[in-house]
Amino acid sequence: MKSSIRPMIGADKAAVTAILRALPEFTSEEVVVAEEVIDSYLEKSLSSGYHILVVEEGSAVAGYVCYGPTPLTSGTWDMYWLAVDAGRQGQGIGRALMAFAEERIRESDGRLIIIETSGRPQYEKTRRFHMSQGYAEIGRMADFYAPGDDKLFFEKRLR
Ligand SMILES: CC(C)(COP(=O)(O)OP(=O)(O)OC[C@H]1O[C@@H](n2cnc3c(N)ncnc32)[C@H](O)[C@@H]1OP(=O)(O)O)[C@@H](O)C(=O)NCCC(=O)NCCS
Repeated sequence: MKSSIRPMIGADKAAVTAILRALPEFTSEEVVVAEEVIDSYLEKSLSSGYHILVVEEGSAVAGYVCYGPTPLTSGTWDMYWLAVDAGRQGQGIGRALMAFAEERIRESDGRLIIIETSGRPQYEKTRRFHMSQGYAEIGRMADFYAPGDDKLFFEKRLR
């Protein structure tokens, strides 16, 4: 099936939010925040501080990635959100989206990419995904999200 990656537009919002809502990894509060970020990007484009790309499989949106330059840094970027439709995971879509975003970051002279994620057991698959894409766990803030729910930091150095 033909696959393409392109910047998100308003018409993609329903599909992206449906993907987010159906994923067990995200709480409803997290989905609300993800939607606020999407709205900010759709309204203000890159001046929102976010870059959002969607991947289309055939004519259907199968996932999205949201990243942006970390404020007050030189060459550091945050990978904020990445999600692939639950029914289409494990087919290389997440890897392709991540690689595409990393290439854009490299072109913008980015040198360091940071991912913050939860240490909860339901994120185990996500952590393995990050490591398979060359990210290393570099830190952990104990009990950050809630008692027993640590915040983990992953990094990838581009140069
Ligand atoms: C994490 C996520 C984006 C990965 O996308 P995906 O399309 O399923 O992943 P891919 O098929 O591209 O797999 C890429 C790599 O991860 C590995 N991988 C994927 N799922 C895995 C699993 N369940 N266990 C171990 N490795 C896994 C693959 O082996 C592959 O490795 P390779 O590049 O060496 O071949 C997707 O599973 C997802 O949306 N998860 C829920 C939301 C989430 O956790 N988002 C990230 C935090 S914001």
